[in-house]
Amino acid sequence: MTNQSGRNDLAGENTVTVFGGTGFLGRRIVSRLLDKAVDVRPVSRHPHNYKSDNASGKKPSQQIEADILDSSSITAAVTGSRTVVNAVSLYVERGEQTFERVHVEAAADLATASRDAGVEMFVQISGIGSDPKSRSNYIRARGRGEEVVMAAFPGAVIVRPAIMAGPDDAFITRIARLVRILPIYPLFGEGGTLLQPVYVEDVAEAVSRLASGQYSTDASVFECAGPRIYSYQELVQEIATHLNARIRLVPVPFAVWSMVASAAEFLPAVSLTRNQVDLMRSDNVAANDLPGLKELGIQSRGIEELVRIIAHGG
Ligand SMILES: NC(=O)c1ccc[n+]([C@@H]2O[C@H](COP(=O)([O-])OP(=O)(O)OC[C@H]3O[C@@H](n4cnc5c(N)ncnc54)[C@H](OP(=O)(O)O)[C@@H]3O)[C@@H](O)[C@H]2O)c1
Repeated sequence: MTNQSGRNDLAGENTVTVFGGTGFLGRRIVSRLLDKAVDVRPVSRHPHNYKSDNASGKKPSQQIEADILDSSSITAAVTGSRTVVNAVSLYVERGEQTFERVHVEAAADLATASRDAGVEMFVQISGIGSDPKSRSNYIRARGRGEEVVMAAFPGAVIVRPAIMAGPDDAFITRIARLVRILPIYPLFGEGGTLLQPVYVEDVAEAVSRLASGQYSTDASVFECAGPRIYSYQELVQEIATHLNARIRLVPVPFAVWSMVASAAEFLPAVSLTRNQVDLMRSDNVAANDLPGLKELGIQSRGIEELVRIIAHGG
């Protein structure tokens, strides 16, 4: 049903609600949806943190304050949505905010509330390497989160990004900063872990195409990764080369990194987490047999372009 201005008269008929819509990935999903003229609601505990940087200059119709741990607030937030995206993160456990509580129980609650509210599509942002049987609390919670979402919302779509890069990321930007100031660069282990970094905007575009219905799909799992696989050592070297930095790479055992991360998690501004160290122990590359950016019609950008984007701040 449309009015004379062509706008939809049924409130929420086409609304996409993005939990975590103020975050590194989430706010870019919101921007990409706004660029597609989709009615979108970013949801987070601090909605005033939402920064609009979409090309069209459009703003969300509503910014909703809700906590994914509070079932009454999530029910209110999803009501009237056609699609719900869960892009909530938790990288460090604090108090009741545990990986199990946020990535498993709350993800299931959000999927259940969405199904009960008549939402048509649910997109769960997870991560490459998620594994319900992992020994790492974090990686196991991400894998179990996928399972409980699929059970609560049949037909849910899981999007697993590789390590994402962008001007404010916590990985490539840090490497780019450190290779310019350090003569010696400490590697995770021997630096042999395989990685396939992806531009955060490419992942946001993929999620927005799925969430807006621009691409209808029968696939339930997408793995979104960049165009090239690097060992960690090659990646650091490649970034240094693009920045004309000369560095010597030095292996540092994972046990040392775990100790450093355990201490760093007590600092107010956490710069390294144990889950980051856990993730660096295993290869993080897209599976050949799952659809990803290419199948969604997106040409992913390579590390040279990412370093240039990061170096210029956007
Ligand atoms: N960053 C990467 O390289 C990467 C790679 C692979 C997968 N992922 C996955 O991508 C997703 C998004 O990650 P990100 O890096 O964009 O995270 P982020 O920047 O930390 O953003 C997290 C978002 O979730 C919101 N949030 C956190 N706790 C919440 C709660 N209890 N209730 C409601 N909202 C809450 C935050 O806002 P408030 O704090 O204001 O509530 C924020 O909007 C996560 O699932 C993450 O695991 C990330």
